[in-house]
Amino acid sequence: MKLTRRNFVKKSGQVLLALPLLGSSLMSFKLPQNTRPLKILILGGTSFLGPHQIAYALSRGHRISTFTRGKSKPTVHFDKFDKVEQLIGDRENDLSAIETGEWDLVIDNSGRKTEWTRKTAQLLKDRASIYMYTSSTGVYYPYLKESVDENDQVLLTEPKIEMDDETKLEYWYGVMKATSEEETIKAFGKDRSIIVRPTYMMGPGDKTDRFIYWPIRLSRGGEMLIPGQAQDPVQYIDVRDVAQFMINLAEKNLTGTYNAAGPEKATGMHKFAEEIKPTFSNEISYVYIEDYPFLLENELPYLVPWIMPTGNNYGTARIKNKKAIENGLKCRDLKQSIRDTLAWWNSEVLTQERRDKFENDPKGLLQREEMILSKWKGKKN
Ligand SMILES: NC(=O)c1ccc[n+]([C@@H]2O[C@H](COP(=O)([O-])OP(=O)(O)OC[C@H]3O[C@@H](n4cnc5c(N)ncnc54)[C@H](OP(=O)(O)O)[C@@H]3O)[C@@H](O)[C@H]2O)c1
Repeated sequence: MKLTRRNFVKKSGQVLLALPLLGSSLMSFKLPQNTRPLKILILGGTSFLGPHQIAYALSRGHRISTFTRGKSKPTVHFDKFDKVEQLIGDRENDLSAIETGEWDLVIDNSGRKTEWTRKTAQLLKDRASIYMYTSSTGVYYPYLKESVDENDQVLLTEPKIEMDDETKLEYWYGVMKATSEEETIKAFGKDRSIIVRPTYMMGPGDKTDRFIYWPIRLSRGGEMLIPGQAQDPVQYIDVRDVAQFMINLAEKNLTGTYNAAGPEKATGMHKFAEEIKPTFSNEISYVYIEDYPFLLENELPYLVPWIMPTGNNYGTARIKNKKAIENGLKCRDLKQSIRDTLAWWNSEVLTQERRDKFENDPKGLLQREEMILSKWKGKKN
């Protein structure tokens, strides 16, 4: 299976219907007393994380502007966008729409080049109070340590060594995120910067198709392959929990750097598998395959959130979230995340073509699982 773990930039289908179940729970939140409504500018905002930030921020009484090229269409919360000021430009070469205006908070979601963050942070430093940069745990690549917290060294330069394309992408991404963090702090100073480093995000609206395997496969029931050893650590986070955490940090002016990684308590692959088993109340039996060489032979080096914890990926799911938890990160029930994600996947907002492309991909595990299981049973007999 040739999934590229960092292959996050994908075009979505054009979609325009509402998903009431995603919005309904938001309206119960209230802004705490003494918290004033914020004027927020989101660079990006129409892809995966942004719409959830917008829905939550609006429910808290904040005002939102987005800055995008006007190309990406959200697949969640699109009904909220008539309450959002939509500024159009291009981070590559046209920032004119944000050359005037003042904001309490800038959220830089769409950072794809260090240069982009340098320019917007410099442009906005005297007209915005706080700059929040959406970074990634990718800044810790290569993941060689037993545990990593926010004070650990981040990746500031790409090594000049021979490497495969996927490793190159990991290095490029880590350096881009880490140096963009630096540009944020250079312009705004530590006391006006918030850096959030999410691990793999999943949930409704995900364009990466990295996690959707689990909701689809669990809903089908039957005999199911679980790759990885019992204690292999796994980390993931519902995108809505990241969105709420980020807005809450800004409301409380909690500047600094935070690893946004769930679950709240560290877990291993088999615990993860047991936790998700009852998601759809159907009959499921697991076949655990712990044999790394066999998994590699069968092109199964990862099935996010499981990533074989070897080599540069040893510590990929050993990121400490203590600081984030202490400062308000809450992780919702994993089974609910899976059910909501499947409801979104099967809803009219996505095209059948998109679903078919993933579900019928001959290289994908949905199509290959039966064959791998039969090989595994043959090997054992
Ligand atoms: N997905 C994960 O698991 C994960 C994990 C850790 C960190 N992150 C980080 O989380 C952040 C948010 O990710 P996301 O998936 O929600 O969204 P995203 O990929 O940041 O969404 C792209 C947004 O940027 C806008 N955009 C793209 N190119 C632009 C340009 N040249 N000028 C202006 N706007 C542009 C898009 O709108 P237009 O196309 O209309 O311009 C869209 O609103 C990213 O920085 C990502 O690196 C993601």
